[in-house]
Amino acid sequence: MIICIGAGPGDHSYLTMRGAELIRNADVVAGFNAVVDVVKDLIPVSAQVVLMGYRDQVAKLDEVAALHHAGKRCVVVFMGDIHFSGFQYLERVERACGHRVETLPGISSAQILASRARVCFDETTFITFHRRGDLEPFKRHLVNVLNDGRNAIVIPCPWDAARSFMPRHIATYLLQQGVNPEHPTEVWENLTRGDAEWHGKLADCADKEFSDMSIMLIRTLTPMDSQIEPPPEKVAAGARG
Ligand SMILES: C[S@@+](CC[C@H](N)C(=O)[O-])C[C@H]1O[C@@H](n2cnc3c(N)ncnc32)[C@H](O)[C@@H]1O
Repeated sequence: MIICIGAGPGDHSYLTMRGAELIRNADVVAGFNAVVDVVKDLIPVSAQVVLMGYRDQVAKLDEVAALHHAGKRCVVVFMGDIHFSGFQYLERVERACGHRVETLPGISSAQILASRARVCFDETTFITFHRRGDLEPFKRHLVNVLNDGRNAIVIPCPWDAARSFMPRHIATYLLQQGVNPEHPTEVWENLTRGDAEWHGKLADCADKEFSDMSIMLIRTLTPMDSQIEPPPEKVAAGARG
């Protein structure tokens, strides 16, 4: 058995009960160091822990796949939710195993941000730049999302200088594309671990530095009006008699 589960982000109290149960019953718990660290208190002493980083992830996942094929109960732990900015790692797990693997969703940093900043998913699009490959289609999509009057929740890319696409690069790019500099913008760091927040306009963000553990909200300039029914008419106290 092998299952990929979402944990965190940041604090293990955001892990689902099902996720905790799977870890407590695992023979093998694998994942990036910082993510396994979030769930370390739940890992049984008898379990084998396979830690990995960006450079050795393929080799380490081959080890996990071999343990899975030998009949061990394996859990691969992902940061936040697997389905936002986690699919390339899932692909690597599946490539190592040679088959599709079950997933258990977790709570995403995007959900925590939505809760802190009070934004509605229906009116918001999620985009990540924290991925391998061509970022251009995602950049264009972000411009379209904002021009279409929706909020954007954006995971930046913190990698090496050549690829880095952090909040200041995102803001600069959007301004170059003619996006309105007045968009209310927020950057939240270390959510669930002593959050830090920055609020300003998109243009103000172009020279701000944030840590790798940050997520960005760019609000629409044209929030939708409420579409719920009008409130019941108040009967004026005096009109009753
Ligand atoms: C590879 S992505 C994984 C996102 C994850 N799957 C999720 O749903 O939150 C990692 C990036 O997510 C963002 N992130 C994850 N946890 C965060 C947190 N607690 N606070 C702020 N940003 C976070 C950071 O930008 C981090 O570099």
